Amino acid sequence: MSDDFWARRWREGQIGFHEGAPNAFLQAHAARLGDAKRVFVPLCGKSEDLAFLAARGHTVVGVELVEDAVRAFFDEHGLAPAVTPRGPLTAYAHGAITLLVGDLFDATPDLVGAVDALYDRAALIALPEDVRARYVAHLRALLLPGAAGLVVTVEYPQEAMAGPPFAVPEAEVRRLYDGLAVECIDRRPAAGGRVAALGAAAEECVFVVRF
Ligand SMILES: C[S@@+](CC[C@H](N)C(=O)[O-])C[C@H]1O[C@@H](n2cnc3c(N)ncnc32)[C@H](O)[C@@H]1O
Repeated sequence: MSDDFWARRWREGQIGFHEGAPNAFLQAHAARLGDAKRVFVPLCGKSEDLAFLAARGHTVVGVELVEDAVRAFFDEHGLAPAVTPRGPLTAYAHGAITLLVGDLFDATPDLVGAVDALYDRAALIALPEDVRARYVAHLRALLLPGAAGLVVTVEYPQEAMAGPPFAVPEAEVRRLYDGLAVECIDRRPAAGGRVAALGAAAEECVFVVRF
C-alpha cells in the first residue's frame, strides 16, 4: 500500500474501517490489558478506541500516517492538542492521548517512549502480507517485555475479495508472533463493511499476545 493510497482514502472520505464507536472486542476484553500504563496503538486513524482507552485510565500513544486523520480525532473531541516535532514525526498531544503523525516504521523506542501494552485493530490486517513480518518485528522492538497485546484480525477466503482489510488467519498470527504466548480469546461473525457482506465465511477474531 503506498502512502498515497491512505492519504487519498482519508481525503476522499473512504474510511469504511472507521467504526465511530469503541470496538466491540475492545469493550468486551479491555481488562486483558491489565493495569498497563501506556498503550501503543499503531495505525490508529481517528478511532474512538483511543478515547475509550484513555477513559479507562491508560495513557495512549498512537501512530498514524495521515495528518488529517489525527487533526480530525482532536477536532471531533473538541480538544486543542499541543503540536510539536518529534524527530521525523509530529506529536499531537492532549491529556492522556498523544498521536504521532508519520510512518510507523520511523517510530523508534526513543520517539515513542516506554509502552507496556498494544492495541491493534485494523492495523495488521491493513498491511499486505509481505509487510506484516516487518511490522510485527517493529512492534516487538517497541513493546516492553511482559506487555499485553490485544490484536483484532479478520478471516475470510482471500480470493473472495481484495484487501485491505486482508485476511490474516490464526496460523499466520501465531507464526508472526512466534515465541510469544498467543491466545485466541473471541471470534465472531464479521460485523460490518465489505467483509461482512461475504457472509458466514467471514469472522473477526481477537488474540491476546504476551510480549
Ligand atoms: C484500516 S485503517 C485503521 C484505523 C484504526 N486502527 C481504526 O480501527 O479505525 C489503517 C490506518 O493506518 C494508517 N497507516 C497505513 N500505513 C501506515 C504506516 N506505515 N504508518 C502509520 N499509519 C499508517 C492509514 O492511514 C489508516 O488510517
